[in-house]
Amino acid sequence: MATILAIETSCDETAVALANNRNVLSSIVASQIDVHRQYGGVVPEVASRRHLETINGAIAQGLQAADLDWSSIDGVAATCAPGLVGALLVGLTTAKTLAMVHQKPFLGVHHLEGHIYASYLSTPELAPPFLCLLVSGGHTSLIYVRDCGMYETIGQTRDDAAGEAFDKVARLLDLGYPGGPAIDSLAREGNGQAFRLAEGKVSMTTGGYHPYDSSFSGLKTAVLRLVQQLKQESEELPVADIAASFQHTVAKALTKRTIAAALDYGLNTIAVGGGVAANSGLRYHLLAAGASHNLQVLFPPRALCTDNAAMIACAAADHLQRGHQSPLTLSAQSRMAIGTVMDLYR
Ligand code: KG4
Ligand code: ZN
Repeated sequence: MATILAIETSCDETAVALANNRNVLSSIVASQIDVHRQYGGVVPEVASRRHLETINGAIAQGLQAADLDWSSIDGVAATCAPGLVGALLVGLTTAKTLAMVHQKPFLGVHHLEGHIYASYLSTPELAPPFLCLLVSGGHTSLIYVRDCGMYETIGQTRDDAAGEAFDKVARLLDLGYPGGPAIDSLAREGNGQAFRLAEGKVSMTTGGYHPYDSSFSGLKTAVLRLVQQLKQESEELPVADIAASFQHTVAKALTKRTIAAALDYGLNTIAVGGGVAANSGLRYHLLAAGASHNLQVLFPPRALCTDNAAMIACAAADHLQRGHQSPLTLSAQSRMAIGTVMDLYR
């Protein structure tokens, strides 16, 4: 067993957690959403500065909540890629410093591997291989999980990520930031069948459509056109029906691709991760489709779907137990394919 103190600062949450493998001892998430809301999105420089102001207090809080001191910690981890470089650097530099001062192994963790590990926290008996649908503000990926550190991306978005589409459509409907939760709650009051919106498909040069890749920018434009047309017809926009129809289209599109990939690759378990995994439309459609195909579909609780450091600690514990450690020269990277995570370890 390995006890890890982990830091996650890839975007707009300053998160610190302590976990003993798949057991969370404490998890602190200091959200910056209220700061960024006034700008309608995350401002990278503001995010970095906020992380810097918050990180030390969050670490003290995490240690206190777990009732642990440094003598019982086996390693220090931080998200190092992908994400906003300035934001990542705060967590990464803090983790390296703590590792040096307390003479503990240091581990850099890929943010998406962290999201995959959220499912191990909520379902400790989960064992690879399985399919992971990762849907966040920056990613929409179908990942074949072979083992710790061994991932193959079999489908992804060609343009906007699913969460990005939620955020952009929410802006268009004046629902504020972040858009996903706003659309989700409004969709509950609307009719998902009110407007038929074209689901984006990715053409292949060989003909037909790519079975696992998605595209959301066309759908976003379709919502924009619908809004423009409805505004000409009436003063009052049926916002709830538009939100519900958009959510319905995204949920159906993601469900179709995920089920196809699981069946084609012979994987019986689908673990979902990332902020959009909190979406009730996606949960409803994917759970129903999974049940009708005899596939196990796992959605972690909402707090583990959105960014947190417990998932980073869990991933780091698994790596540390396999003898993996990162050099203190490890740098932050804005982009990094999940298939190359083993480059982080020596
Ligand atoms: O994983 P996450 O917290 O951060 C990234 O790594 O990007 O995901 C944030 C994204 C945002 O785009 C947010 O709008 C979306 O997840 N999101 C949701 C919901 N909750 C968060 N999207 C749809 N429905 C939700 N309930
Ligand atoms: Zn994330």
